[in-house]
Amino acid sequence: MPARIRKAVFPVAGLGTRFLPATKSMPKEMLTVVDRPLIQHVVDEAREAGIEHLIFVTGRNKGVIEDHFDRQPELEETLAARGKTAALETLAECLPEAGAASFIRQQAPLGLGHAVWCAREIVGDEPFAVILPDVLVQAPDKGCLAQMLDVYNSRGGNILAVEPVPDDQTQNYGVVATGGADGNVFPVTGMVEKPEPGTAPSNLTILGRYILQPEIFGLLSEQGAGSGGEIQLTDSMLTLLETQHFFAVEYEGRAFDCGSKAGFLAANVAFAIDRADLRDTVVAEIKKLL
Ligand code: G1P
Repeated sequence: MPARIRKAVFPVAGLGTRFLPATKSMPKEMLTVVDRPLIQHVVDEAREAGIEHLIFVTGRNKGVIEDHFDRQPELEETLAARGKTAALETLAECLPEAGAASFIRQQAPLGLGHAVWCAREIVGDEPFAVILPDVLVQAPDKGCLAQMLDVYNSRGGNILAVEPVPDDQTQNYGVVATGGADGNVFPVTGMVEKPEPGTAPSNLTILGRYILQPEIFGLLSEQGAGSGGEIQLTDSMLTLLETQHFFAVEYEGRAFDCGSKAGFLAANVAFAIDRADLRDTVVAEIKKLL
């Protein structure tokens, strides 16, 4: 059995320019899908997969994320005094255990690879998960990271969740080259970050969920700027592929790119109609609009 995955890194330093003015003074990770912030959705996915320690790589103006994962005694006292036990329970469920969340600053926006590298001291010498909060996955019974862990536990190495996209969209993502599939698992043979149109090795894109071996940190510390002038995680993973296995998992479920307005709005509708308490009303409202 490969080493247990105990820690997950959440890169949350991005400026969220695509959502201005909403994100002028509020981190994009705090935008809500139904009634919880994006960051809470991905933390829930991590905790469901057994992750014990949450590592947030933050930036300036992101303090409210730290507050979100802390207690709010005044609010709790008021809710208790008013007998709002369901709300109190929800708050308690969302709270990480004491000492189980770390916050570090990415001091400059140098790219995803740099953000992950900033977590090296807290991750230490053990394999870990990376989850991008821009991407929400609605999965039928098991979350995306939990599905990836099933593959990791039987094969070890490094695991990437991937998703097929139309050929004309591959330039927006990291893309993998693969060998033949074994069920929904593909051995990765190459990868490229944001390939020029028409040059992608496949249409399987990197979704924003990773399980990585700690050797990635040494490579990231030497990684030069790549696509978009940023230090790209994909470039260091490609180097790591020379000495370690990577497996791509075509996960079961549906992903929403909440970094785009349309994806974010679609996620709100999809997560709302998945909720027994909202489904009928929301469907009726949408029908009226159409
Ligand atoms: C990042 C990764 C890319 C991945 C994408 C998924 O890109 O670098 O490989 O496909 O997330 O959302 P970004 O969207 O930050 O440009």
